[in-house]
Amino acid sequence: MRLHVIMSSGGEDPDREKEQETRPQSRDGPVVSAFKQAKLEKEAQKNWDLFYKRNSTNFFRDRHWTTREFEELRSCKEFEDQKLTILEAGCGVGNCLFPLLEEDLNIFAYACDFSPRAVEYVKQNPLYDAERCKAFHCDLTQDDLLEHIPAASVDVVTLIFVLSAVHPDKMHLVLQNVYRVLKPGKCVLFRDYGLNDHAMLRFKTGSKLGENFYVRQDGTRAYFFTDVFLAQLFRATGYEEVVSEYVLRETVNKKEGLCVPRVFLQSKFRKPLRTP
Ligand SMILES: C[S@@+](CC[C@H](N)C(=O)[O-])C[C@H]1O[C@@H](n2cnc3c(N)ncnc32)[C@H](O)[C@@H]1O
Repeated sequence: MRLHVIMSSGGEDPDREKEQETRPQSRDGPVVSAFKQAKLEKEAQKNWDLFYKRNSTNFFRDRHWTTREFEELRSCKEFEDQKLTILEAGCGVGNCLFPLLEEDLNIFAYACDFSPRAVEYVKQNPLYDAERCKAFHCDLTQDDLLEHIPAASVDVVTLIFVLSAVHPDKMHLVLQNVYRVLKPGKCVLFRDYGLNDHAMLRFKTGSKLGENFYVRQDGTRAYFFTDVFLAQLFRATGYEEVVSEYVLRETVNKKEGLCVPRVFLQSKFRKPLRTP
């Protein structure tokens, strides 16, 4: 297991748990009934859309760390005037997308999400430029990305806090879908919740859906990854592991005297140069 420890006084990462109580809770106990689980799966898109209806573009902070953590997101790395085509899969309202487009004029970005409202927010953003970006609605578990993106044409795919929102039985469908549009030899960049992240430890009894899988009060769900689970998932879809490491972060809230331990998993998986 590789660890990468960062102390910080402000969170740059999704802070979904701020809607939950801060006192410790017992999160185990019986899992949610099969009937309710089926309903949550059926209503996953609706629940995310309602999330954006409530929060508009104000919930997640802009993620300015992506180029620091992933050099693949910088153009002109391999040669002068190198252009990059990226796909931000599950882009939300563009908190990763717009910092990238602003910083680097050599990027063209596809961005998709299954919340129609989130996609609309992306298109309405003053930084949205149809010459440099194509945002579209897509359920990554069932809508073929090839309807919007040519096969094997994308240099980098990002999955930033997205796979955790997908039912574990369907995660491989997302990976198969993005595989088809990725160029051979290029990578999927992944960052998401790690096992025992503070957000997981604070779930209350009655919110457990399965192993490492929980439901929030608003009906959106979160899976907490181990490096072993993630590597198996990607390898079974034909990817090669480049790197996978836990990022341990302590978010310090000086005003409230709280120190919140966070665990994220950050990884890169490559589509092999020669595909079977
Ligand atoms: C925690 S948000 C992260 C958004 C964005 N990547 C960011 O970093 O700000 C998770 C996003 O995944 C999207 N999502 C969840 N399941 C999806 C699916 N099956 N297909 C496409 N998007 C999905 C949600 O609508 C939501 O916008």
